[in-house]
Amino acid sequence: MKAVALRGAFDSMVIDMPAAPLPRGSYGTFGYSEEEIEREAIRLQVAIKQPMRWSIEICRSLAPITMEINRLKEEKGVFLIAHSYQTPDITYGVADSVADSYALSKEARDAPEQTILFSSVRFMAETAKIVSPHKTVLHPSPDAGCSLSDGISAQDIRDLKMRNPGVPVVCYINTSAAVKAECDVCVTSSNYLRICERLPGDRLIFVPDRFMGSHLQEHLRGKKEVLVYDGECEVHAEFTGKKIRRWKSSMREHGIDLMVLSHPECGADVLEESDIVGSSEVLKDEAIRLASEGKKDIMLITECGTADRVLAETEEQLNLIGACVMCRHMKTTGLEDILQALRDPTPEQVIDLDPVIIERASRSLDEMFRLAE
Ligand code: 13P
Ligand code: SF4
Repeated sequence: MKAVALRGAFDSMVIDMPAAPLPRGSYGTFGYSEEEIEREAIRLQVAIKQPMRWSIEICRSLAPITMEINRLKEEKGVFLIAHSYQTPDITYGVADSVADSYALSKEARDAPEQTILFSSVRFMAETAKIVSPHKTVLHPSPDAGCSLSDGISAQDIRDLKMRNPGVPVVCYINTSAAVKAECDVCVTSSNYLRICERLPGDRLIFVPDRFMGSHLQEHLRGKKEVLVYDGECEVHAEFTGKKIRRWKSSMREHGIDLMVLSHPECGADVLEESDIVGSSEVLKDEAIRLASEGKKDIMLITECGTADRVLAETEEQLNLIGACVMCRHMKTTGLEDILQALRDPTPEQVIDLDPVIIERASRSLDEMFRLAE
């Protein structure tokens, strides 16, 4: 991985981000003229706002495929949603909407288009199908999993329920449709504290993220007992409180008061060092707000896509300090996978779920929408 200094970052303090991807194949021009390609390349570069990593040459090579995807979307009436952790050529080149998992599940449900293309990992595309079963949901990279959702099965939930009869089971959205079908309510990083607080009774089971489970235990101490499963996000588990303390103290030596923003999939020691904790969307919005208030030295403790979004969506010259971690699952999807799914999807690229699973899983998602609002 090549370390790349972001706009305004100190030379010795770089964000460890991969260089922008060069196209995996030769796409050709799809019949677009040189002028059209040039116009699209400039649009991409201006939207992404990282001219060092996303050079005009790279944007020029991507321009025909982003134009072709946007044309096909229009022709076929497809709504393309992308999670924040997708690469900027997707989020700023072809997506109609980019957000966190809660907002995107609502958008998938409410979109008038009859076809949704979800550029993200599998559990998010499955969620889109559960909330809008009559729509066609395309998922360009069928192998894009997630260490949380792949680490727990429907049978694990049935076993937990057997051992703890009558205790409500709360699942994080990072779970398969089959797991959601066994649970009482689903939650996301933007609402798990609030929803669990609102559940009746004095006990609950939280699956599968052990870190979010421990934050819940702390939050509900003295009010509810929280039984926690043992999963973790392989990306957010990389961060430690010790590393952040080291960054903070070295910044302090330079007279810099570092603002630390972290995702709740991180451990408690990380959250203790954080000024703000929130979903990927909240972290992006808060970083932009802090920068506009003059607090420009910011550390984003989450997947690298959030830094890409912050850089694209602010005019402020902020210093993103420290290192992000890349999710190999989220980064599986490329523009060529999206093009393939739009043109002629393989059976694996079309989300197909058992109607009984959809019916049962939709109850836990409906309950989330009811309790979150
Ligand atoms: P958000 O809902 O915060 O976007 O989180 C999804 C996710 O997978 C984070 O790792
Ligand atoms: Fe799963 Fe973590 Fe990747 Fe999110 S960042 S998709 S939780 S592995």
